[in-house]
Parts: sequence; structure tokens; C-alpha cells
Amino acid sequence: MVALKVENLVKDFKRSITLRKVRVVDGLNLEIRQGETFGFLGPNGAGKTTTLKLINGLLHPTSGSIRIFGQDHRNVAVKGRVGFLPENPYFYDYLTAEEFLDFYAQLFGIRRADRRVRVRRLLERVGLAARAAEPLRKFSKGMTQRLGMAQALINEPELVILDEPMSGLDPIGRRDVRNIIVELKREGRTVFFSSHLIPDVEMICDRVGILVSGRLSEQADLHQRLEMTSPASDLRVSGISEETFERLDALSIRTVVRGPEILAEVPGDGSVEKLIDLVRADGGRIISIVPKRESLESIFLREAAPECTESSELEVDRF
Ligand SMILES: Nc1ncnc2c1ncn2[C@@H]1O[C@H](COP(=O)(O)OP(=O)(O)O)[C@@H](O)[C@H]1O
Ligand SMILES: [Mg+2]
Repeated sequence: MVALKVENLVKDFKRSITLRKVRVVDGLNLEIRQGETFGFLGPNGAGKTTTLKLINGLLHPTSGSIRIFGQDHRNVAVKGRVGFLPENPYFYDYLTAEEFLDFYAQLFGIRRADRRVRVRRLLERVGLAARAAEPLRKFSKGMTQRLGMAQALINEPELVILDEPMSGLDPIGRRDVRNIIVELKREGRTVFFSSHLIPDVEMICDRVGILVSGRLSEQADLHQRLEMTSPASDLRVSGISEETFERLDALSIRTVVRGPEILAEVPGDGSVEKLIDLVRADGGRIISIVPKRESLESIFLREAAPECTESSELEVDRF
């Protein structure tokens, strides 16, 4: 089942002074499957926020179609199944956290008795239970972001759309938000979130799309993509004989001798297993075996800023 399908989405803005048209979203195609966690990556200004606003009906597309659970995204029944955390959530700062969430719950027509339970549970979930009765003007950026998460979840949405949910948070706050996203996935919800923080995406997403100049330059299964690109391993050993070294050298892409240690880059064709047996039989020591994965960061840099990508000559001293 497809949770969200975006087809040929285009959004033009007029620059206010020159009135020249600028195409911010440029024929975007995107498909999010039900139950997956999808990371929407892109450099600043790529058009992520604009895309998310278009999906949530806060902006009108110049052209293209957006379907959520198979229906037009402006459909009221569909909106009730979606939760949204905007990039810079604005809250009425004279309300308390509890009042604010209750107000939001009312907008979704949730009954009073249910509201109370739901609000309390959500405040716990985002770690704000102890601050429930404080006015929002006393909230830090991190607390505001957590409250925004709670607000996005008030209607128990099947599709949760979050615009930079980790931005402005300290490491603990980032970890907490990551954990909430993982929990949402466990509950069977679909999560679509934008971020420019690569490690957060790498840790929790099933799939990732990289937005560059309003188009998706890459949309892939993250783990498959990372494994597919570099199946080799880095092997570190010591205490082997000359003869074993020669066999290791022959099976490796390259070897480097560093003091008593030998570092070898071994292709992912079963050679690692063979070499482990060889080294052991020779009485040598295996210090480490590290599978080489292309990091999401290197994919991101290549897609988003090809001119900045390191040339292959620069990566010689990787050991
Ligand atoms: N309302 C608007 N009017 C004109 N230009 C806009 C408007 N909103 C965003 N933009 C421009 O669209 C581009 C993409 O912005 P945005 O979607 O916020 O990117 P991201 O969230 O990826 O950083 C930027 O160049 C931004 O200046
Ligand atoms: Mg943005």
C-alpha cells in the first residue's frame, strides 16, 4: 500500500522585488510506502519545506498531483489521518503545554475525556509531563520542538510528516526524537521527515530520498544502497608468516604494512572468510574486520554537491 504519492510536482514562487518566477520544486516524483520511515534529505534551500507544505495543503502547487492513502491530499477525511510538525512551529505562548495540546485535540473533534488521557500520554511520550502546566513562553527551543512532536501526534496519525524534527535539539533531545520515530514505526505508522542531519537519517530510515534543486536525485533503500556500493572489508592482522602474507596480498585489493600490523582491503567475494582461516591456521592474530560501507554522507555529497566530492586520488590514505 502506498501512503503518499507525489507526481510531477511543481512549485513556482515569484521573487518579491523582480517578480521573476523561481521554480523551487521542479517535477518531483516520490512514493512513500505504508509503514516505512522515509528520510527526505537535502541541503538548505533545496525545497524540502516547500514540498512538505504542498503535501499538507499549506501551499498550492503550480502543477502536479499529491495523493495520500490513494485520495486527493485536500480531502478532509485524509487530513484527519495525517500529522504534521512544521519547521518553525509557532505556539500561542500564553497557553500551557497541556492547554495547547487540548486545544489542538479539540480541533480534531476529540471528546473531552479522551482528550485528557491522550494529552497526558503524549506529554509523557515527549518528556514534557513535568512541564505540563508551564506557559509556553518559558519553553526552550528543544522543549518547543518536543511539544511540536506531541501536537503532530495528537490525532494518532497513520502518516506522520515532520519538517526537521531534530533541528535545534541537543544530543539527548535528538536521541529522544529518534526514539519516538522508531516507536512510531513499530506502531505501524508511516513517517516522512526532512533533515539535513545525515547521521539521524542513516540511523533510523528504511529509505531515503535526496532532494537537489527541487528534484529527487536519489531514492533508494538505504541499507541495500549502502551495502551494494561497497562490499569490501578492511582487515587488520598481525603475526603472520611471509608465505601467508603473500597469499593475503594476492587476495586483497591492496595491503599496507604498518609496523607489526598488516592492513588489507579485501573484496567482498568470500575472500575475507578464506583469509580468516589462513591467518588462524598460521597462528596469526586478527585484530579487526570492518565491512566497508559507502556512508550516506558520501552519497549525499556526491548527489547534492558534486563539485565538492573528493577525487579518488584523495582517498588513498583511508587506513
Ligand atoms: N514563500 C516563498 N516565496 C519565495 N521564495 C520562497 C518562499 N518559500 C521558500 N522560498 C524559496 O524556495 C527555496 C526552497 O526553500 P525551502 O523549501 O524552505 O528549502 P529547504 O527546506 O530545503 O531548506 C529557497 O530558495 C527559498 O528562498
Ligand atoms: Mg526547510
